[in-house]
Amino acid sequence: MVIFQSCLFAFILCLRAYSASDNSWDATIPKSVVGLSGSCVVIPCTYNYPSNGKTYTDFTGIWYKSVSEIIYHTDTSKIISKFKDRTSLLGNLHQKNCTLKISSLQHDDQGQYIFRIEIKDLDMFSFHESKVSITVKDSPDLPIISVDKEVTSQKEVTATCVVSHSCLPHPPRLTWSHKGTTKSPLQAQEDGQWKLTSSLTFTPSIEDHNKPLNCSAEFTPVKTVSNNKNLKVKYPPYNVNVQSKSQVKENESVELNCSGDSYPPVHSFQWFGSTGTQIANGSSYRLNHVTRYTETITCTATNTEGENSSAPQRIKVLYPPEIKSGSSCESETFIVCFCIVDSSPPSEVKWLSPSSTLLSSGVQQNGSITIFTLQGWLGFPDTVHCSASNSEGNSVMTLSVPYNGLIIYLVVASGTVVVIVVVISVCVAKRCCGRRPAQSVLDVKNDPNELKTTPKSDTSSQEPQNYDLYTNYEEIDQSVYKNFECDNGNPECEQDEDVYANT
Ligand SMILES: *[C@@H]1O[C@H](CO)[C@@H](O)[C@H](O)[C@H]1NC(C)=O
Ligand SMILES: *[C@@H]1O[C@H](CO)[C@@H](O)[C@H](O)[C@H]1NC(C)=O
Ligand SMILES: *[C@@H]1O[C@H](CO)[C@@H](O)[C@H](O)[C@H]1NC(C)=O
Ligand SMILES: *[C@@H]1O[C@H](CO)[C@@H](O)[C@H](O)[C@H]1NC(C)=O
Ligand SMILES: *[C@@H]1O[C@H](CO)[C@@H](O)[C@H](O)[C@H]1NC(C)=O
Ligand SMILES: *[C@@H]1O[C@H](CO)[C@@H](O)[C@H](O)[C@H]1NC(C)=O
Ligand SMILES: *[C@@H]1O[C@H](CO)[C@@H](O)[C@H](O)[C@H]1NC(C)=O
Repeated sequence: MVIFQSCLFAFILCLRAYSASDNSWDATIPKSVVGLSGSCVVIPCTYNYPSNGKTYTDFTGIWYKSVSEIIYHTDTSKIISKFKDRTSLLGNLHQKNCTLKISSLQHDDQGQYIFRIEIKDLDMFSFHESKVSITVKDSPDLPIISVDKEVTSQKEVTATCVVSHSCLPHPPRLTWSHKGTTKSPLQAQEDGQWKLTSSLTFTPSIEDHNKPLNCSAEFTPVKTVSNNKNLKVKYPPYNVNVQSKSQVKENESVELNCSGDSYPPVHSFQWFGSTGTQIANGSSYRLNHVTRYTETITCTATNTEGENSSAPQRIKVLYPPEIKSGSSCESETFIVCFCIVDSSPPSEVKWLSPSSTLLSSGVQQNGSITIFTLQGWLGFPDTVHCSASNSEGNSVMTLSVPYNGLIIYLVVASGTVVVIVVVISVCVAKRCCGRRPAQSVLDVKNDPNELKTTPKSDTSSQEPQNYDLYTNYEEIDQSVYKNFECDNGNPECEQDEDVYANT
């Protein structure tokens, strides 16, 4: 009994060893394979036979569907017409490879297929235990994209796209929507499905944030499927801006809002004065008392990726005209009055004399300061009023005109000349009864007017009168600016002087 048992045990062991060795009929074929209609399907297949150390050379391979339909035969004439020219053996039977390809797959190709091998001088065997079932579908599966949930701008990243297919000789073509370097696709087979992988290495930018990354697979015959994944690109704040009312009346308050574009969103806002000192926290900042001297303000936005700042923001402050103490009249060859007005928005100026309204002969603006010039000669009043007004209010200053010795002298001198000319003309007329005297009188009379209006040397494009004024009185203007700036107790006074001196 014991002997029998051990004998049986040994037999089973032997049987096992036998079936596991090269010396048995068996085949390795996937249980099922999925193909795309119109495309091809490749059925990986390897088989074994009990060679017992002998060598065989004559092999006949047969694939059949159901019982009788021969879909592949080494002798191709035996193939049923429906599969003629559509099947081929990719494997080499001598190397125990029975891999089959069926092309131009059709729906009624679905079913179970069996491999049979006939070896001359040995035996023949149908591998009923290793059936493969073929399924035909109309559209391929979507490609699968893998990429990090969040990527960082300007930091290289690699994404992969995987697509399955069943037609090894004609794999689909994978393309990406984003530029980058793609690695030659790698293939891996599993149960008659090949997995084609394409990797894309690229550097994401801000523009890629929330944009789909597409991968499309083009199958032959042409059938394209694509899939995409939204990219989340982390980047530091960009376009940091301060929003506020476009203009504010002086001594009123203003709310400043700061915004910045970033991912992840900005988690803190800070406000800085022009000297770089921090003045507040938070996305909104209320400036309670805005004056014309309010400094520029900068907002800095910070997120996990970094920080960025807005351009210095200057608030446009509206205030009524203020006529500066440097305003005055001077008299050289002409009488020139300057009215220096600081206002926002810029003011209009009227020059008023006790008897009439005069027009400014020159206007020069720089920032909130506007310098109005009035020029005259004979008949200039003793006092003039400069009256400035803008939307915020008005202001008047009375300027007295200094005594002008030169003009008196010129008046007396020209009067004398006129008398002399008249006397001479009369004498000449008495002698020769000529017609010229009248004209010489006119010549002299015109002189002062010409002096006033003739532009100095190189006037060209600009309004002649204004230009003339500027060229004549540039030096005076400069000293006027200097006075005004220093009056103000402005700490930048010296710097400004330099600037003006350079003009
Ligand atoms: C069988 O042949 C196919 C087609 O030539 C080949 O791709 C496959 O690697 C072979 N299998 C083995 C196990 O050699
Ligand atoms: C990416 O895919 C979406 C939807 O699949 C499509 O609307 C878009 O046009 C595609 N973009 C590119 C660049 O292919
Ligand atoms: C800050 O934002 C501006 C655009 O608003 C951008 O040009 C600049 O590169 C950004 N700086 C940093 C450090 O991100
Ligand atoms: C600032 O933001 C607040 C709250 O979002 C809003 O009510 C206000 O209108 C904004 N002000 C400006 C000047 O944009
Ligand atoms: C802003 O917040 C930081 C930290 O939260 C704090 O140290 C700083 O003093 C605050 N600044 C102002 C002006 O409130
Ligand atoms: C604002 O207040 C200052 C000081 O109280 C004053 O000098 C100035 O005239 C005011 N500005 C306006 C436009 O009322
Ligand atoms: C205006 O004034 C500024 C200084 O406040 C000076 O730098 C600039 O040169 C001036 N511009 C003109 C045209 O005078």
